[in-house]
Amino acid sequence: MREATKIIRSTLTPTKPGEPLHSGPVFAAPYHAPGDASQTPYTYARSHNPTWTHLEKAIGQMESGADYRAHALVFASGMAATTAVFGALLRPGDTVVLPANAYYAARVLAQEYFAKMGITLRLAPTANNAQAEHLEGAKLLWIETPSNPTMEVCDIAALCDAAHKAGALVAVDNTTPTPLGQLPLALGADLSVASDTKAMTGHSDILLGHVAVRDLELRQKIDQWRTLTGGILGPMEAWLALRSIATLPLRLERSCQNAQRIAEFVSTRAEVESVLYPGLPMHPGHAIAAKQMRYFGPVLSFILRNKAAAETFLAKSKLLTEATSFGGVSTSAERRARWGGDDIAEGFIRLSAGCEDIEDLLEDIAQALDAIKQ
Ligand SMILES: Cc1ncc(COP(=O)(O)O)c(C=O)c1O
Repeated sequence: MREATKIIRSTLTPTKPGEPLHSGPVFAAPYHAPGDASQTPYTYARSHNPTWTHLEKAIGQMESGADYRAHALVFASGMAATTAVFGALLRPGDTVVLPANAYYAARVLAQEYFAKMGITLRLAPTANNAQAEHLEGAKLLWIETPSNPTMEVCDIAALCDAAHKAGALVAVDNTTPTPLGQLPLALGADLSVASDTKAMTGHSDILLGHVAVRDLELRQKIDQWRTLTGGILGPMEAWLALRSIATLPLRLERSCQNAQRIAEFVSTRAEVESVLYPGLPMHPGHAIAAKQMRYFGPVLSFILRNKAAAETFLAKSKLLTEATSFGGVSTSAERRARWGGDDIAEGFIRLSAGCEDIEDLLEDIAQALDAIKQ
């Protein structure tokens, strides 16, 4: 089966006459587990749940490559998945190499908690594989490509090679492209981590994260972290996610085409000082992105003259919902500097292309840019 067929089939319940194609979420705390509990597949819902199992099989299949099978574990959010990787793998005295421009909450988590517990952090930019210079003696290399929100790109295969030679494990935050757009485990990473709140589920209505690995020992460590810390995903969210991922191939194809067209269009406009999108040939990471990505992703950033220009642009737009996050079916945008925490210009706009008709989006963006001039 081809990818889209496999994904859709993986979200269905095996059919039985008279039963629904999608069985509902399983709500449970304890399960009936008589006698020897190791003989019962489900015992207590902090450790496992049949609706998670279904979702994990579907995500594991997406993360698998031609010559390996991936195991996925689902979490209550992308940050819960990130924390699980740091918490399960890092001990006092260990060193982790992080992107200086990583998603800001991952950076704050590392700085405010893990560094204060005796873990050394080394920060280096994503662009130009700059993290490769900092691997000596490291336990973990954390990569995010394209990085949010600055859209820098690094070479996953080359960095995995360098990290493994230095004895470090590699985790890739693959939130922006999803496994359909980029397959970190196939490029050599040990862990593929994502916020599935974004394009993976795509309807702006649930938080979800996952970690995927090839190695069973690694799977066991992450699983143990999830069971012991207990901040788990609810079965309703897992079920909604199963509904949503069936349409990922359709949604991603359309939203990435829209992102490309918007990036090309805003590049032609005088009000826009620069455009950051790896699908543009002028992007410094374009060649690497073209090598390792199947889709360049739904997110692009561009810089307007100043804060006032960005605020006018967002206020005048009728189709860009001003909201944070990204990867939804409806197009959204925000002036990213309003949050602080990232080294970006005041006029920096992060835009997440949705699945609307591109002509409507381009007309709306054009009139909102026109308004800046006045
Ligand atoms: C790249 C990236 N990683 C991780 C996260 C955290 O995900 P969540 O909000 O689901 O916890 C985000 C959220 O914006 C993100 O953009």
